[in-house]
Amino acid sequence: MIREVLRMGDPRLLQQSIPLERFGTPQLAELLADMRDTMAALNGAGLAAPQIGVPLRVVIFGFEHNERYPDAESVPFTILCNPVLTPLGEAMEDGWEGCLSVPGMRGLVPRHARLRYRGLDQDGRPLEREVSGFHARVVQHECDHLDGILYPMRIRDLRQFGFSEVLFPGEDLADD
Ligand code: NI
Repeated sequence: MIREVLRMGDPRLLQQSIPLERFGTPQLAELLADMRDTMAALNGAGLAAPQIGVPLRVVIFGFEHNERYPDAESVPFTILCNPVLTPLGEAMEDGWEGCLSVPGMRGLVPRHARLRYRGLDQDGRPLEREVSGFHARVVQHECDHLDGILYPMRIRDLRQFGFSEVLFPGEDLADD
């Protein structure tokens, strides 16, 4: 079921979410199905449970080709519960981000260039990856939602924040 995505200004987006404790349950399957439906309907690259008002440490992300990020490499569809991120090295990279909770906007955000992430899938099986580039960026963006952080809070120079259609005229970014 497609759920309403909370928008910036809603205090629920600023909460610390709590760890998931029970795996392989019908409730979790329903939550994940709703998140997947909602992300697909809005052409998102990822979605965190608190964005649909569920304060649990659950994110999904991934895409083959995303119209909102036409130049980004594909990222495998991933379900990640109770994630732990560990930066690898000091390098940071700036990149443009949007968010389904901040519709119509883009901002230039610094992120760790490389990181390891660990977490559990929907059945509680461990998952661990070392990633870089857009994959690393998406994970950091989605996991920030679990700590009540929205990407505009990470923008270093607010002159690099604005409406997508003004920043990138002619690109079809209307549905974020
Ligand atoms: Ni977001």
